[in-house]
Amino acid sequence: MRLLIKNAKALLGAHAPGVSLVAGGRMAELPSIADGWLLAENGVITALGGMDTWPGITDWNDLEVIDATDRYVLPGWCDPHTHTVFAAPREEEFVDKIKGLTYQEIAARGGGILNSARKLRAMDEDALFRAASERLNGMMRQGTVAVEIKSGYGLTVESELKMLRVVKRLKEALPLRIRATLLAAHALPTEFANDRDGYVRMITSELIPQVASEGLADFVDVFCETNYFTVAELERILETGAQHGLPGKVHVNQFTSIGGIQAAVRQGALSVDHLEVMEEADLDVLQGTGTIPTLLPSCSFFLRIPYAPARALIDRGLPVALATDHNPGSTPSGNMNLVLSLACIQLRMLPEEAVNAATLNAAAAMGVEQELGGLTVGKRASLIITRPVPSLAYLPYAFGTDHIDTVLIDGRPVRSGEALA
Ligand code: NIG
Ligand code: FE
Repeated sequence: MRLLIKNAKALLGAHAPGVSLVAGGRMAELPSIADGWLLAENGVITALGGMDTWPGITDWNDLEVIDATDRYVLPGWCDPHTHTVFAAPREEEFVDKIKGLTYQEIAARGGGILNSARKLRAMDEDALFRAASERLNGMMRQGTVAVEIKSGYGLTVESELKMLRVVKRLKEALPLRIRATLLAAHALPTEFANDRDGYVRMITSELIPQVASEGLADFVDVFCETNYFTVAELERILETGAQHGLPGKVHVNQFTSIGGIQAAVRQGALSVDHLEVMEEADLDVLQGTGTIPTLLPSCSFFLRIPYAPARALIDRGLPVALATDHNPGSTPSGNMNLVLSLACIQLRMLPEEAVNAATLNAAAAMGVEQELGGLTVGKRASLIITRPVPSLAYLPYAFGTDHIDTVLIDGRPVRSGEALA
């Protein structure tokens, strides 16, 4: 199967082969080719350029042609932090929050993560699979071509494995790239309320070895936070994960700065996520490491908590990535287009920085940068074709409006618009 996109207003994110992420001042550079064409074969980009270099087509057999006049073509969004497998929404807590309760107060009343865990334990695998497929289909239509999905609403060996088996089925059934993360250390389950050490031991001696040997996860995560898991517990879990080939991708500094970033860096974590509450030392320790700061502005928006200091991170030369954090408690939205707008409006990222953070750097933060995150020869033809829009900045600027016409994953439409007609 071959695909030709021609006359694109611009091909955005046309990174050179081998560029695996962009950091610091380079984040403001979004390589683009004006008036572009792109050719893909069997789902992989094989050539691209400006229409002035258009080589022409001699063999029209089995060739799908898309005329992208007035439209931008950009790499599909990668979403490197979600909790997309869950049993039920929690809009009653949303109303409690409107009435003035905080996220922590709701959790203390038996709401929050433990509320989701009760419901998930009672739901069978098929029903969880169907609900998550529906969410992911919606996210693909909004331009997401890769997603990381965490466990963390099971909190028993059996139910954490159930969640990860659902993620495995989703990987097999859906066209988007999926990476799985074991987040058993999401909250202390009531059965272990008086035995924290026993729960952490269950994770390190039972869950991690079993998950690794069955290939059910790619990463391990810990919610390192006051009233959740300590820095020492994070170290134990990440160390065991690393021994089993599961790098860390961790929740740190959402509400308090307690040293989670320093520990994650020591353990060689791939990403540190949230970062709403940052001290100078937290920013400094990330410099010169391979740990990618991953920001979740739609979580700040929904919980009315501070926004992460994206500018300070970029000024220190770091590669910022963006994600939705899609989950029923703190971010009931898997829409990366909203994340793009919030990144520009609230994090003060330039549109070019935000697109790099939601594509190439986001791909790197979930380990799929070799095949996604750029319009680059050799990468997957997983991309977004916009509606006619005046400029790149218009995408985050006109927030809340759907600017997407067509979404392709591996060269095949998951959403067909006028460009395909
Ligand atoms: O990333 N902070 C911890 N975990 C999620 C929220 C999970 C929930 O409330 O269900 C988050 O915000
Ligand atoms: Fe999260």
